[in-house]
Amino acid sequence: LPKLSGASILPTLNAVAEQTPAAGEIKFPKDFLWGTATAAYQVEGAWNVDGRGETVWDRFSHAPGNVKGAYTGDEACDDYHRFPEDIAFMKQMNMRSYRYSIAWSRIQPTGEGTINQKGIDYYKRLTDTVLKAGMRPLVTLYHWDLPQPLEDKGGWPNRDTAARFADYAEIAVKALGDRINTWAIFNEPWVFTYLGYGSGVHAPGKQDFDLFLKASHTVNLAQGDAFRAIKAIAPKSKVGTAFSMSSTTPATSSPEDAAAAKRFDAFNNVWFLETALRGHYPEAFVHGVPLETMGFQSGDDKRMTAPLDYIGVNYYFRQIVANLATPAPTKPSYDAMGFNHYNGKEGPLTEIGWEVYPRGMYEIVQRVSKDYKLPIEITENGCSYGDYPDASGRVADVRRIHYYREHLRELARAIQDGADVRGYHSWSILDNFEWSEGYTQRFGMVFVDFPTQRRFMKDSGKWYARVASTNTVEA
Ligand code: NOJ
Repeated sequence: LPKLSGASILPTLNAVAEQTPAAGEIKFPKDFLWGTATAAYQVEGAWNVDGRGETVWDRFSHAPGNVKGAYTGDEACDDYHRFPEDIAFMKQMNMRSYRYSIAWSRIQPTGEGTINQKGIDYYKRLTDTVLKAGMRPLVTLYHWDLPQPLEDKGGWPNRDTAARFADYAEIAVKALGDRINTWAIFNEPWVFTYLGYGSGVHAPGKQDFDLFLKASHTVNLAQGDAFRAIKAIAPKSKVGTAFSMSSTTPATSSPEDAAAAKRFDAFNNVWFLETALRGHYPEAFVHGVPLETMGFQSGDDKRMTAPLDYIGVNYYFRQIVANLATPAPTKPSYDAMGFNHYNGKEGPLTEIGWEVYPRGMYEIVQRVSKDYKLPIEITENGCSYGDYPDASGRVADVRRIHYYREHLRELARAIQDGADVRGYHSWSILDNFEWSEGYTQRFGMVFVDFPTQRRFMKDSGKWYARVASTNTVEA
């Protein structure tokens, strides 16, 4: 097993030691759903087994230069075969909710038409195991793995993809709606549209701001279409989306920076939420939303409206935002939104370089709760640290425990101040395929030794098991 390098972690450990917890305990609401999360491509492996079709992430990771270390999700955590073992870990950790995703291309290998029964059977087996372990399944329909044949037809920038997605949602809910009642339509729509089509860091690796705008509009239409498709089959189901959200701090107290921070929030946090709840795009652009480039047609406002039952929040870091003076643009661009943004640097950084900023959990939950007045699920929160098993197999991941404790305290405070938060999911139960970072970033509460697929529960997993069983976190 690789060795932990002491030098690289010392500054962070010192920062942790300075913040000793005070005595006492904070209680969470009765029936709070303690949970954990994964996504199909990041854990399943078995990329070409039982009729699964190729996805944009297979294509992207198989091409050289896209993923660190040339890693792929071909095997990942082999969860396609090992899910019973991993669900046993969750049971041991007293989890009451498991968030996982369905790979579209297992169910419809080409993204349209023919249904692959073996794929459906897999998700039936998985879900039955989840239910038997006493957990609520919270199932994401799309965690970034678009069937490659649909990308070949233009992908998310192509409006037709919205209808294909709604068909798939209908098939999934018809097949699994007797077992699954809580759905997340999309995972982090901003991330897969912007990183996939704007910056090109994620699959399919395109770099074109216009394509990003078109993709984001199709996804908004797809969210509305899928919402109605699900509700037509399962009217009592709970349907939301897991949004990536950053708490947002203006760089200075100037009114310009405050306005820039608002535009950043409109773009980064609610570009796919205001559309669903209010039927229009929020004001992210200084000179108006570029509806024409997005391919906005009359009637689209109604079509993208979806009265979500809950808001899923994925929180990892805050962003500091400064105004950027912009002349009237000749064509839409990132700069036309008139802001610069960067990560905070006050707190210690996790291994992926993200600032530990627990207060942001309070801030973003309060913002969402006050402005939209809907139930909230924390669909993801977590950190990457490279901690390895010692000779006895123990993984003493103190920094991860610290991270979770601090974020849960802030979440508890947000609940005390009125937010209706129903559940919390740690990202992740397992070390897994971290997209362009490959296996170089470990977010799990269970360590995975990838060459042997052996698992070791980390100390954070044991700590979280106690949080879940007592429904409290140390004050
Ligand atoms: C958000 C994504 O939903 C998930 O797939 C990813 O692994 C984590 N953040 C950590 O970056």
